[in-house]
Amino acid sequence: MKKTIKDYELKNKKVIIRVDFNVPIKNQQISDDTRIKEALKTINYAINKKAKVILMSHLGRIKDTSDRQKASLRVVAKRLEELLNKKVIFVDETRGEQLEKAIASLKGGQVLLMENTRFEDLNDKSESQNNEELGAYWASLGELFINDAFGTSHRAHASNVGIASHLPSGLGFLVEKELEVLTKNIKTPKRPFCVILGGAKVSDKIGVIKSLVEKADYILIGGAMANTFLLASNISVGSSLVENDFVSFCKEILDNNEEKIILPIDVSVASNINAQVAQNVFVNEVNDEEQILDIGPRTVELFKKYLEKSQTIIWNGPVGAFEYEPFKVGTNALCEVLKNIDAIKIVGGGDSASAVKNFGYDSFFTHISTGGGASLELLEGKILPGVDIIDEK
Ligand code: 3PG
Repeated sequence: MKKTIKDYELKNKKVIIRVDFNVPIKNQQISDDTRIKEALKTINYAINKKAKVILMSHLGRIKDTSDRQKASLRVVAKRLEELLNKKVIFVDETRGEQLEKAIASLKGGQVLLMENTRFEDLNDKSESQNNEELGAYWASLGELFINDAFGTSHRAHASNVGIASHLPSGLGFLVEKELEVLTKNIKTPKRPFCVILGGAKVSDKIGVIKSLVEKADYILIGGAMANTFLLASNISVGSSLVENDFVSFCKEILDNNEEKIILPIDVSVASNINAQVAQNVFVNEVNDEEQILDIGPRTVELFKKYLEKSQTIIWNGPVGAFEYEPFKVGTNALCEVLKNIDAIKIVGGGDSASAVKNFGYDSFFTHISTGGGASLELLEGKILPGVDIIDEK
């Protein structure tokens, strides 16, 4: 068992909490603050225990100096201040005198947020490559490390694995909850266990597919990744997005799991993704110049039959191009079906989580993960390095 924040005395201790404040920001506005809200439990706990709270997070991916401006955590500090109803000291650097002084003058119960850890990627990718000197430096700023960034736990970066290698460590409440819900329902699901897989690429989900065919009772496939599976079952998919290199992989999976893998029977097509109207056709009626961009209503009904008899449902990846008005119908209809189903219903983060939230169905799910890649890797049965490094009880 991993240690948690509750296993430590926090009073007047400099506690570094790695959070995942990688939130979507447009024109300096945060469009979804779920990840900030989900971290509040751990932050408030540390504040109430009078810890000197040092928050670290990445935001986006930093390739050159021009990325710095749009990826500053300043806007997150403001939102956090509103949510905590408390001053958040924001330090706009990731190392140096200003940061060290601000930390040295922290009092118990105060909160400081350091600038985007990935600004250090401008120095030879120090953060993402888990540079030893950087991890040791950040660790020197605190006395205890808490990982509450579930969404980043599949990464071995300086701001999680690096720091944890030098300090006593524990998990925060968010990571603890994510691991408990996801691991339990993947390892010992109430059966039948059904997985809905969507999203664009089979290549992103090879590991997950291989692992799930062993564990799940049904796998319902939608999104553009279904196109490659349809092609593998000798159905012409017109000018849809396909991954030709993965057709034989899909064919092998289909051949060995005929009963388990359920593909769309009808789809929504258009000449391109910017089209204003879509047309519903059976999968064997797609013209050469048409693209499949969503599942159709008969497929939703077909999926419903499997979902209704399932006791555990995990959903990863939208079943259509839901960001575009005409192609959100399938994902929306699936939300409506799931709303009325009495089962353990888990959304595995990323785009499917955004879709569920945008369509207003979040309250009908048992759990919506804050981690896209991280929940996918758990589904795949992988060990998350950001969790693995944490001290055992
Ligand atoms: C996420 O959004 O999935 C996490 O914050 C990790 O971000 P990354 O894929 O840029 O490492």
